[in-house]
Amino acid sequence: MNQALRTDLQTVTEVTHWTDQLFSFRVTRPRSLRFRSGEFVMIGLPGAEGKPLLRAYSIASPAWDDTLEFYSIKVPDGPLTSRLQHVRPGDPIILRPKPVGTLVHDALRPGWRLWMLATGTGFAPFASLLRDPETWEGYGRVVVMHACRTAAELAYGRQVICALKSDPLIGAMVGDRLHYHPTTTRETSPRMGRITDLLASGRAFAELRQPGPLTAETDRVMVCGSLAFNRDMSALLKDWGLQEGSNAQPGDFVVEKAFVG
Ligand code: A2P
Repeated sequence: MNQALRTDLQTVTEVTHWTDQLFSFRVTRPRSLRFRSGEFVMIGLPGAEGKPLLRAYSIASPAWDDTLEFYSIKVPDGPLTSRLQHVRPGDPIILRPKPVGTLVHDALRPGWRLWMLATGTGFAPFASLLRDPETWEGYGRVVVMHACRTAAELAYGRQVICALKSDPLIGAMVGDRLHYHPTTTRETSPRMGRITDLLASGRAFAELRQPGPLTAETDRVMVCGSLAFNRDMSALLKDWGLQEGSNAQPGDFVVEKAFVG
């Protein structure tokens, strides 16, 4: 193993399997790693001939946390996740400590209401941002919409949301300012539908008892999901007059694809 690879090695501390297709895990955090909640890093395992097999993963834990959490799909024939899903506490993980990404507060102009819109594993960066005091200092209201095919796939997000109010650091800040709207699209559940359809039809605003639609004056949005979802959601936000932002030029909404593989 070459020197660069050795210095990037971290250790798995905890693994939770949510469904047969989804799991989360924690790894040790390099002392030198600084990141902004919502960013992603490259992580992976040693591959054939010592060449690392790396993929981009959103960090799901907040910037202040001692360990790093990741949330992943298990792709049966995926080069990395077919192996990564079998990691256990004590196993080594490669982590390249160069965090980047656009789902960060710096890429948004100040606003009143923050929307976090996720499909599938796109919830991961929001698991980080929701546990960061900056989110609650910056906004009066935070609305989280998470759509998955089945109810079981909502479990990780639900657990993060449910733990917020008793979080010693931010529980008091959250109060009644968090509005959570989970839906399924391919299994019957109390709330169903695609996020795009729910927002375009106005049903989401009625169900959440929130004023709608979104406006550039009041609303800021973070979008993280499949390419098709990101594309359709961006189009809807632009129709409402919101402008896409970036680290270089903060705007009203930011988009990033949920990482898979
Ligand atoms: P649907 O089941 O109606 O396709 P996936 O597992 O394929 O990544 O999808 C995750 C969730 O994202 C599903 O609930 C899926 O709904 C939804 N989704 C996929 N594409 C879009 C899109 N273009 N607009 C809104 N929601 C979408």
